[in-house]
Amino acid sequence: MLVNMKTLLADAEKGDYAVGSFSVANMEMVLGVIKAAEELNAPIILQIAEVRLKQSPLGVIGPLMVAAAKGAKVPVAVHFDHGKTMEKICEALELGFTSVMFDGSHLPLDENIKMTEKVIAEAKKYGAAVEAEIGCVGGSEDGSEDIAINCTNPDDAVRFEKETGVDALAIAIGNAHGNYKSTPHLRFDILETVDKLTKTPLVLHGGTGITPDDFVRCSKTGIKKINIATATFDKVENTVRSCYNNNGINGYYDLQAAEVEGAYENAKTHILIFGTDNKWKG
Ligand code: 13P
Repeated sequence: MLVNMKTLLADAEKGDYAVGSFSVANMEMVLGVIKAAEELNAPIILQIAEVRLKQSPLGVIGPLMVAAAKGAKVPVAVHFDHGKTMEKICEALELGFTSVMFDGSHLPLDENIKMTEKVIAEAKKYGAAVEAEIGCVGGSEDGSEDIAINCTNPDDAVRFEKETGVDALAIAIGNAHGNYKSTPHLRFDILETVDKLTKTPLVLHGGTGITPDDFVRCSKTGIKKINIATATFDKVENTVRSCYNNNGINGYYDLQAAEVEGAYENAKTHILIFGTDNKWKG
């Protein structure tokens, strides 16, 4: 069933776990992620980032994501990831996304606050949740830029929460989008301070390549939403490749099944690490 992201994050707070937010690019990935969630009785979030709309247009994939969420046996929020423009954020809201992110991490804090407030006002008309980001997560969603990591200043987080009342806050603690070039060393000192000083559910971007132990530690230290993108795309690609190598693909529908399988396996692995399995009792 399609749900608001606020509900999922509030339940995650109570249950002391984090909800996986899986980026999808096509129907096969949507089906694979939902299959894993249903099998494990796990609430999940489906998301797509604005930079990915050149490959998967919002007007096509958006209704597909919303329909799949509505038809799922478990709670699914549909989230617009890294919204950069008001135009696309409004389009996602109009399509029925139950959550949108405004990424003003590159802006001065005052401006990020001002823009986030505007997005919150828009989202309110639809009863949708809003995520924002402060500090800079490294890399970029589609690998087109190599943004330097700029860890979140905890005082900024306090101010941001107070002035915007945002529903979820992405913070930078040494995490980066894409495959890490070397082992990531997350700044748990910063995470602990932000967690102590704020009440807003926190979001970890750049989930691909973070160790299971670090995921669990994050989920016990205020992180309630974890974004996974590259791991899904890589798993889908590698599953298809290995099926071809083993002569397991004879025709288009075997290829399609291999894609669903890759997305399913990846979502399953992460749901189990995040401890979201069996959290849906419906
Ligand atoms: P990865 O591609 O590193 O998993 O990051 C996903 C993400 O944070 C999407 O916003």
